[in-house]
Amino acid sequence: MRGRPPRGRLAVGATAALLAVAALGAALAWNQIFDAALSAQMVMSPTSRTFREWVEPTIPLYFDVYLFNWTNADQFPEEIPNLQEVGPYRFREQRRHVNVSWHPHNGSVSYRTQRSWHFDETSNGTLEDNITTLNIIAASAVYRSRDWGFIRQKGLAMGLAMFGHHVSISKLATELLFEGYDDPLLDLAKNLPASATGGAPPVDKFGLFYGRNNSLDTDGYMEVSTGAGGAAGSLPGQILKWNYEDHLPFYSGQCSKLSGSAGEFMRRDLSEQSGLELFLPDLCRTVLLEHTGSGVHDSLAYNKYELTESSFDNSSSSPENSCFCNGECAWGGVMNVSSCRYGSPSFLSLPHFLHGDPRLLELVTGLEPDPDKHSFYFAVEPKLGVPLEVSARFQLNIWIEPTQNIELFEKVPKMLFPIFWVEQKVYVEERVLSELRIVRAILDWGGAVCAGVTLFFTVLAVKVLCCKKKPKYSRPSEVISEKPKEEEMLKLNPL
Ligand SMILES: *[C@@H]1O[C@H](CO)[C@@H](O)[C@H](O)[C@H]1NC(C)=O
Ligand SMILES: *[C@@H]1O[C@H](CO)[C@@H](O)[C@H](O)[C@H]1NC(C)=O
Ligand SMILES: *[C@@H]1O[C@H](CO)[C@@H](O)[C@H](O)[C@H]1NC(C)=O
Ligand SMILES: *[C@@H]1O[C@H](CO)[C@@H](O)[C@H](O)[C@H]1NC(C)=O
Ligand SMILES: *[C@@H]1O[C@H](CO)[C@@H](O)[C@H](O)[C@H]1NC(C)=O
Ligand SMILES: *[C@@H]1O[C@H](CO)[C@@H](O)[C@H](O)[C@H]1NC(C)=O
Ligand SMILES: *[C@@H]1O[C@H](CO)[C@@H](O)[C@H](O)[C@H]1NC(C)=O
Repeated sequence: MRGRPPRGRLAVGATAALLAVAALGAALAWNQIFDAALSAQMVMSPTSRTFREWVEPTIPLYFDVYLFNWTNADQFPEEIPNLQEVGPYRFREQRRHVNVSWHPHNGSVSYRTQRSWHFDETSNGTLEDNITTLNIIAASAVYRSRDWGFIRQKGLAMGLAMFGHHVSISKLATELLFEGYDDPLLDLAKNLPASATGGAPPVDKFGLFYGRNNSLDTDGYMEVSTGAGGAAGSLPGQILKWNYEDHLPFYSGQCSKLSGSAGEFMRRDLSEQSGLELFLPDLCRTVLLEHTGSGVHDSLAYNKYELTESSFDNSSSSPENSCFCNGECAWGGVMNVSSCRYGSPSFLSLPHFLHGDPRLLELVTGLEPDPDKHSFYFAVEPKLGVPLEVSARFQLNIWIEPTQNIELFEKVPKMLFPIFWVEQKVYVEERVLSELRIVRAILDWGGAVCAGVTLFFTVLAVKVLCCKKKPKYSRPSEVISEKPKEEEMLKLNPL
């Protein structure tokens, strides 16, 4: 028994020294360790928590639609259109990811998004509101006839007159939005060859969101990385394929590149310079959001990334955007999405032409761009890459221009006619925020805690190894004498 205390002490000392070294290593490599652990957590797999929350999100989502009511349509084109914003018509959105299939060998998962909308009573207006807007069916038919010969254009002009079409149309909000309305031109289009309708599937009704409720085709087929190595490295949720293509067929060159986050998972360690790359199926393209500010939200730091003047600019200052014009780069701040909407004259912009060409605003009255109400941004916790607040907004506009052989559109100005804008805001719930605060605290303080532990074990090792001669020191008995104390405390706090 005599020889044991020194050997025991030696063992304790050696262990303490080893632990000190390990803790030092952890302190120095804390960020890497944390990153590896987080990556493992974020990987999407059929059993992971991220996946369960992703497949059927429980966060309440709202889809707010603002329509532009054209109040002086009878005086067109003598008077410039006066647009009165009405709404929001608010819909609760339920989102599900369906047809999920895993491709472990290339580290990806494919799915479709099914969304359903339910009218919400907090709307400012009812679905029975009478709204006057541009006759989009006629405008689309005229746009499509641009390269037709005289005879066919005259034929279209006669058809429009015969069916009683005007430049404007008055419909109930519900018909304009999801329910759709009948039009004889649609029946006519059904009998035309696909080449004359831009390959659009024949429809029996027209509505701005007609056919989208519960549809599997609204956002299309997506294939994204799972974050388990493979195609996009360790980042989950990066787009790899859209509608079975690994590039965008609508644009050429640099603009046809398919990349960026599909909206749910961002890259970690976002810097202010990097910007945020997002793939937006509604725009049929990837956009780069720019860092425009930073702040603190509920004691979590965030970086704000926004669509700015240069996002859709196609002037000489942003030549990288010109391959998105697909023709005339007529106005900055708008995006020609015609080719991904079956050739309809659709142009997307920010609401009220925010950051758009000032000439667009001269052709209508009633619009008042306001960055607070109309910007498009993601506020992201930069270290973890988790969005805290999202405000996704854009406006649909229809291109019209003077068309010689069609009386209805003979005297119209060349302009983009605003039809509606939508807003989707997402705030992260308090439950998630507090979890993020904990993770952030572990990230921030983990290194310091490890350093503290290093110090503790170093001191312990030094004490144990260097103070052998003190006869009164007896660590085992100390440990034993402390044990009851702990038991007492446990009894006092019966958790
Ligand atoms: C839209 O404008 C028309 C004509 O000015 C008006 O009769 C109608 O009440 C307006 N609708 C709404 C919802 O304000
Ligand atoms: C509701 O809509 C009317 C116009 O239709 C507008 O004047 C009013 O400000 C809106 N209210 C809210 C809370 O948005
Ligand atoms: C995709 O999901 C929908 C709805 O869950 C289902 O009706 C359909 O059969 C699925 N399609 C495939 C190819 O699995
Ligand atoms: C991944 O594998 C699936 C087949 O398992 C294939 O359909 C898909 O195109 C692949 N994705 C990529 C990006 O290569
Ligand atoms: C969408 O479809 C659901 C049924 O799945 C229905 O209850 C809802 O009213 C529809 N929404 C709209 C806006 O028509
Ligand atoms: C809607 O308003 C227009 C004129 O502003 C009118 O001609 C039309 O009859 C109205 N429609 C309904 C359903 O009330
Ligand atoms: C918009 O894009 C389409 C198809 O890519 C193109 O044919 C059309 O000329 C463009 N429109 C304008 C006004 O530039």
